[in-house]
Amino acid sequence: MTISEALARTIIDPKSYAQREIADAAFTQIRAEQPLDKAELPDFDPFWVVSRHADIKEIERQPDIFRNGDKSTFLSPRDGVERVKGLTGGEPNLIRSLVSVDGDEHKALRGVVFPHVTPRAIKPLEDQIRQIAREFVDHMLGFGGEVDFAQDVAFLYPLRVIMTVLGVPQEDEPFMLKLTQELFNNADPELNRRRAELTPDEMLKSLWETTMELEAYFAAVTEKFRANPTGQINSLIANATINGEYLNHRQLMGYYIIAATAGHDTTSNTTAGAMWALAERPELLRAMQDNPDRINAFVEESIRWEVPVKHFMRSAVTDCEIGGRQIKAGDWLMLSYQSANRDETVWADPFDFRIDRDQNPQIAFGYGVHVCLGQHLARMEMRILWEELFVRLRSVEMNGRGERTISNFVCGPKHVPIRFTVN
Ligand code: HEM
Repeated sequence: MTISEALARTIIDPKSYAQREIADAAFTQIRAEQPLDKAELPDFDPFWVVSRHADIKEIERQPDIFRNGDKSTFLSPRDGVERVKGLTGGEPNLIRSLVSVDGDEHKALRGVVFPHVTPRAIKPLEDQIRQIAREFVDHMLGFGGEVDFAQDVAFLYPLRVIMTVLGVPQEDEPFMLKLTQELFNNADPELNRRRAELTPDEMLKSLWETTMELEAYFAAVTEKFRANPTGQINSLIANATINGEYLNHRQLMGYYIIAATAGHDTTSNTTAGAMWALAERPELLRAMQDNPDRINAFVEESIRWEVPVKHFMRSAVTDCEIGGRQIKAGDWLMLSYQSANRDETVWADPFDFRIDRDQNPQIAFGYGVHVCLGQHLARMEMRILWEELFVRLRSVEMNGRGERTISNFVCGPKHVPIRFTVN
């Protein structure tokens, strides 16, 4: 039996993630009744919905069998994938980034940045990031008690951090923010390029335009950093060689684009979601102030809670068995991080925000060879912001209705209006 059409439509509908209870309820039913089953919709290639934590790990542990780049790495309708192939000369992904390549190419590309983002490598950035965090805390307190925390703090702080690390000048931050939102939040009329509800055709067209705009921007970046190399990440990318050759155009552009977009939107969404959780739980701020040693537990729980990356896709190259089901060569699979991070067999009370979890094997950064490259930086910058905020805030509560972005891919809260007092 396949997953019912109604349930399948619910979990792919961008609006279900804007009202998260809808997506959560659908996945709870799927985990209970059909934890690994196929969805068949007339406009999409059939895909397996992988809803359990253990099954996602098992798949991600076998990157030679479950590949990223053979099919679209995010859920797209069949027509859309065909048009992308037309635009790219046959590749199913518009952008050739780390998440859409496999094997030796992935290993070599990942190796360009990996040594520079380990916990030890980023430790020297701590003071600079704390300085940035303090600036944004002061900026927030300057609002005098009422602020839209998502718009005025959470979207801006991680943007400043990643752009500093990459080597993008501060004056280009608004441009980067706008293009990132267009890329990830195409289904949301408040954030996409046309400021309207888009048909699938219009969505693809606008994604292509955004990609071209990003490429035009980054073309000059290569020239700049080849002429004057620095230790910043964009410079490492511009000057990297594989087998003695610079990265080709698609590899270069894909690398710049993923670092500049995934490097802040995810962290911003997590930060905004954590503030929403705090503002709805008056005891949580006090608990954090009384137990500052729980800061890492708070950050980890906020990542699990928010799950800013809702899914990625894989495709099987050989027949195999996962979770007792027969997967066939060529099958497409949706790894639902949203679902896996609510798996009742892994967490007691998965729908509660708790800072007393001693074990929190959240899988919101993914797993295996593609596990998030920026995970340590993301954790560090969020920890620092909360350390700086917790000592300044006396109280926080919602000041109106929060609102989430309409998207089934990378998203989270876009408005978190809060009222706060300070010490
Ligand atoms: C990959 C989540 C922050 C850069 C990923 C993946 C997820 C993810 C789910 C795919 C993993 C997989 O396929 O197993 C997150 C979350 C973040 C975050 C939840 C923040 C809370 C960042 C930051 C950066 C970054 C700050 C930039 C420094 C990347 C890159 C990849 C990636 C380059 C591709 C890795 C690969 O395919 O080898 N991230 N991310 N991410 N992330 Fe993040």
